[in-house]
Order: sequence, then C-alpha cells, then structure tokens
Amino acid sequence: MFKWDTLIINANLATMADGSRTYGMLTDGAVGILNGRIEWLGTTTGIKNSIETLAKEVVDAQGCLVTPGLIDCHTHLVFAGNRADEFEQRLNGVAYEEIARKGGGILSTVRATREASFEELYQQSLPRFLALVSEGVTTVEIKSGYGLDLATELKMLHVAKKLGEEHNIQIKLTLLAAHAVPPEYKDNADGYVDVVCSEIIPKIAELKMADCVDAFCEGIGFSYDQTKRVFDAAVRWGLPVKLHADQLSDLNGAALVAEYAGLSADHVEYTSIKSANAMQESGTVAVLLPYAFYILKETKLPPIDAFRKRQIPMAISTDCNPGTAPSSSLLTTMNKACVEFSLTPEEVLKGVTINAAMALGIEDDVGSIEFGKKANLVLWNIKHPADLCYWQGMNRVQRIFIG
Ligand code: NIG
Ligand code: FE
Repeated sequence: MFKWDTLIINANLATMADGSRTYGMLTDGAVGILNGRIEWLGTTTGIKNSIETLAKEVVDAQGCLVTPGLIDCHTHLVFAGNRADEFEQRLNGVAYEEIARKGGGILSTVRATREASFEELYQQSLPRFLALVSEGVTTVEIKSGYGLDLATELKMLHVAKKLGEEHNIQIKLTLLAAHAVPPEYKDNADGYVDVVCSEIIPKIAELKMADCVDAFCEGIGFSYDQTKRVFDAAVRWGLPVKLHADQLSDLNGAALVAEYAGLSADHVEYTSIKSANAMQESGTVAVLLPYAFYILKETKLPPIDAFRKRQIPMAISTDCNPGTAPSSSLLTTMNKACVEFSLTPEEVLKGVTINAAMALGIEDDVGSIEFGKKANLVLWNIKHPADLCYWQGMNRVQRIFIG
C-alpha cells in the first residue's frame, strides 16, 4: 500500500502560504498527494524511506518551480463574434465610450451572442478557454453579461459550466446581467433593472447557475442606485456580490460593493481613498485588470499604494473580453501588472493564486500549497517565480496537476 498517489520531489515550491519567506518558498520541496488533496509537505532530503515505496507515481521536478494552479478570477470569455473592427476604430481616434454610446461595444457582442446557438457559442469560446488553461490556469471565473435577457444569460452560463466539466477545470459562474442596458430598454435602464431583480436573478439563483452577482457601475453602465437595487436582489437570493467599480470614473462603486461585504471590487482605477477604507473594513479584494488598462490606454492608475498600506488583498486577472481585453493569456497580464502597475512579481503571483481565490471566496480550498487543499499544482520549466512575469511569448508549463 502506498502512502500517497503522487509524490513530487526536488521542487522549488512557491507555496504562497502565509509566512516570512518570499513566495512562501520551500526549496528542495516535496508534496504528497492523496485523493486529490495535499496530504503532506516537506523537504526532499527530509524523506527517510526509500522514495519509490511512498507513492504510486514519483515526479522529480529536478529543481524546477512548482506553484499553485493559477486562478483567473475575472473573465468574460464566453461570447460570440469579434470586435477587431472596434479596436481599429479606436486606433483611428474613436473613444471606447463613444463606440458604446453608438450601439457598438458591449451591445455589438450582445447581438452576436444572442444569435449564436449553444453549440456555436461553445465552439467560439473553446479556443479562448483552452489557451487560458494551457498556461496553468486551473480555476476560471466566467461571467455572463452579453445576453441581457434571461435565455441568453442562461445560455452563456451553461456554456461556461460545460467548458469546465469537459476539461476538468473548476469554474465559478458570475451573473452579470447588469452589464449594459439592452436595446429593448433603451432610455429605460430602471425598467431593465426591474427585470434583472425580479426575473433574471431569481431564476438563475433557483437554477443554481451562478455563484455570484456582478454589475457594471459606470456612466455607460448602471448608476450607484441601480447597482444597489441589483445587490439587494442578490442578497435576497443569497448570492454574494462583486462589482466592475470605478473603471472610467469614480461613482463610489468600490465603497458600495464594500457596504455589501462584497467579494471584490474590480478595475478600481478611479477608486478614492474613502472607498479604499471601506474595502479594508469589509475585507473586499481589489481585482486589478492591467490588460484592460493597457488596451484602453488609461493613464489613471489604481490607488495601489493605498491598497498596500491597508493590506487590501490585490488580485490580478485577464478580464478576457472582446472589447477591453482581447487576450487569453494570464502570463501576459502578469507581465503587464509588473510593468503598467509596478507590482512586484511576488505581489503578482499572489494576485493570481491566493488573492484570486479570495476574490472568489474559495481561499480555503485552493490558491496555495497547504495541507488539506486541493492538489491543483503547476510544474514549470523555470527555477524562479519572477521568471513567470519576466519572459513573454513562451509557455513554460511542464505539467499541470488537477486534484
Ligand atoms: O471588464 N467594463 C465592462 N466590461 C468589460 C468590457 C466588456 C466589453 O467591452 O465587451 C470590462 O472591461
Ligand atoms: Fe470585466
């Protein structure tokens, strides 16, 4: 009888578990995995028995890096169509908000997503999903929000769920029905918010097709008061909240989501110090989306020092979407977080592991290499974690362990 199913030895283990060591690093590290859980952690030299007798499979990492499986905690990767034309328009001088006001932007993806069958939507989303997970992402949050009616929101969530089921990847589903005002409710945003609160949230909650409710609180999205109504409905249906907050202007979105003890405030470029104080109090994670910042050529940086001083956990995510973040690469986003936001590689790796887990409320189960947690691990063909943020355009994943 073996003690473990799998034993990884000779690893540079970036455990990302709290501690005095940077990256929670355990050099010469070893991990014993049983029934998909981390059952033992120690040093390779500390193992007394002959190694072959301990596990069905022994993996010699040969001094390479092992990290927790990466977590992408904010994506819109299920959608139909393509907005390369808008990318081109923006480079010809048309602003993102102007394109949105003229019925393009989110609404152009809504049209394509409504028209697509379930199968078409699945097939179009699949390559984005596969590219993401090929880089060692083992948990993905996927939002709805390009349907803006019950049937299409549900179709998106079912596609997201199926992507996870077919590829053994953990998916967290977020209902983002309050992403934009659909054409049927043009000039009647409040009427649409009524539908979101009285029809869409209740039905999705009943079907257990969402883990969380999100909204876009912005001039081109929903007001503070409308967002509050959406959050009240989420609370009534027992769903936690998060928010696209203060991306293009400060509408006190981060303070609002903190008031609801929300999991995360995302984007947060225009978040005020007052809102940061509220986030600190409620334990709300700041999800930074440097790829969207870069694509939109934003200049207003999120208040990163204020987050640091208040020890507000910062997560990093791709925001994978057809408008502001046409990318399925978390590694590229990690590099952007270093260069655009001046985060350290350690902050970034925390941002895509343990802090991203916190942004999804699953930090007890995944996000670090600790006893009892799910054995979601990535073996990389590099020695030091900074290399993940540093070199671009090569995928150095050697092996992905999922449970
Ligand atoms: O996170 N800000 C709102 N939603 C997305 C953009 C969606 C789109 O342009 O399609 C974002 O940036
Ligand atoms: Fe987003």
